[in-house]
Amino acid sequence: MKTEAFRIYKFGGTGEMKWETVEVPAPGRGEVLLRHTAVGLNLADTYRRTGLYPMPLPNGMGNEAVGVVEAVGPGVRALKVGDRVGYIGGQAFDAYSKRRIAQVASLIPIPKFIDDRTAAAALLKGITAQYLLRDAYQVKRGDTILVHAAAGGVGIIMCQWANAIGATVIGTVSTEEKAHFAKRNGCHHPIVVKRKGPKFAKKVRELTNGKGVHCVYDSVGKETWDESLACARLRGTVINFGSASGNPPLVDLAATGPMGSPFIARCALVNYTTTRKETLARADDLFRAIKRGHVKVRVKQRYKLKDAAKAQRDIEARRTTGSTVLIP
Ligand SMILES: NC(=O)c1ccc[n+]([C@@H]2O[C@H](COP(=O)([O-])OP(=O)(O)OC[C@H]3O[C@@H](n4cnc5c(N)ncnc54)[C@H](OP(=O)(O)O)[C@@H]3O)[C@@H](O)[C@H]2O)c1
Repeated sequence: MKTEAFRIYKFGGTGEMKWETVEVPAPGRGEVLLRHTAVGLNLADTYRRTGLYPMPLPNGMGNEAVGVVEAVGPGVRALKVGDRVGYIGGQAFDAYSKRRIAQVASLIPIPKFIDDRTAAAALLKGITAQYLLRDAYQVKRGDTILVHAAAGGVGIIMCQWANAIGATVIGTVSTEEKAHFAKRNGCHHPIVVKRKGPKFAKKVRELTNGKGVHCVYDSVGKETWDESLACARLRGTVINFGSASGNPPLVDLAATGPMGSPFIARCALVNYTTTRKETLARADDLFRAIKRGHVKVRVKQRYKLKDAAKAQRDIEARRTTGSTVLIP
């Protein structure tokens, strides 16, 4: 069977994304044929396109999508034709496609109360928010946390969820419009950061009576890391989980002693979704948060899948808020 999909042969700009007709084989043992109905856009898709996150080439693109099972391989009993499922990795990169072969072991059944577009907008970003808030640092009622890129895909879910847990949420954003959006979605104190000069540490100290926050969640990296360290309270936690402005600099560990001995980690989704059981448990927690209304999934941009290059340019240029889905 033939389908259409993006292929990339060389790292670089969005001009390297090639929309092609490709062959899809029949599903093998432990596999299904999926027809995608909605694909999630993630900033990390752009890191892989540019080579910031290296991957073998040539390759497909994207690692988050939702779809319908169209055929099952030999021995597959866990799923049947017509089932709605999604994934957040565990597969070759090929989410930017109309159809694909997928490993049953990595598929997440989508509950009836969540439609496909919402699921594609929520799965990867929501499970990331889940492990960051529940595990990497366990946010408790009464905590104060700092979330960078608070109006973004992961950020807006974190603000809502942390707020529902009972934490005070401080967030950084680049525009007043994003500040309003973050505020409407659980961020108590959005800070609009300027491109030049000190950005947010002084304000965070003011907002916390000089103490600093229990946890900093930094997905911006290079431009924010040093100030992020300065925002943690005594024995607080500083987590980097992204490189929107480039990778964070090397840490001078000895220098962090006088800063209150913060716990420092670089967190990656793959290390918190190590088995299907773990992934499904995190997905269930996310689905419960959505059902209870603690997390409202904000699908703010939709593009045709074949316009994914435009979507990538928009997320790179900080023109998006909330989640973005690509429709095959
Ligand atoms: N480690 C993990 O497990 C994991 C999993 C998923 C996502 N992530 C990371 O989480 C972050 C958010 O992902 P997302 O897909 O939801 O993206 P997003 O937050 O919707 O978009 C990125 C945002 O980063 C901010 N930003 C700050 N400096 C930037 C710069 N120099 N260039 C571009 N953007 C900049 C922008 O918000 P402002 O304009 O408001 O500053 C922008 O909107 C990314 O860094 C991603 O890599 C990590």
